[in-house]
Amino acid sequence: MRIAIGNDHAGVEMKMAVKAHLEERGIEVVNMGTDSSESCDYPIYGERIGKAVASGEADLGIAICGTGVGISMAAGKVKGIRACVCSEPCTARLSKMHNDSNVLAFGSRIIGPEMAIMITDAWLDAKYEGSDRHERRIAMLMEIENQ
Ligand code: RB5
Repeated sequence: MRIAIGNDHAGVEMKMAVKAHLEERGIEVVNMGTDSSESCDYPIYGERIGKAVASGEADLGIAICGTGVGISMAAGKVKGIRACVCSEPCTARLSKMHNDSNVLAFGSRIIGPEMAIMITDAWLDAKYEGSDRHERRIAMLMEIENQ
């Protein structure tokens, strides 16, 4: 599995912690974020992650900014992306099981690195249920992109 991870200036340290954890799990990680603390614009990185996942360059994406909100909004603008911001593992797990989320986001100013890793593991270990009702709802979601 290959994961695209990206961040703005607020998420550098958290990105490093999550990236190291993913690599310990044997996952290939593509760093698409900034490694500098100099102020930068989160839409650049959210779009980059979204495009990597939508094109198949990466299987999943992880996006980090101060709150997780801006960068997840940017990733979610890319066609085919279902991004969610999570501050605890339960939402992350259910977002995969029910919504087949393909980009996970969190905020470095909202949670700490240990929680970020727990959220990441819950998300990666969960499996999309793929039932008829979830398929129908996801198809409806994706249809909104075509309007
Ligand atoms: C940057 O200061 C901050 O606005 C950004 O990291 C993020 O929280 C936006 O949603």
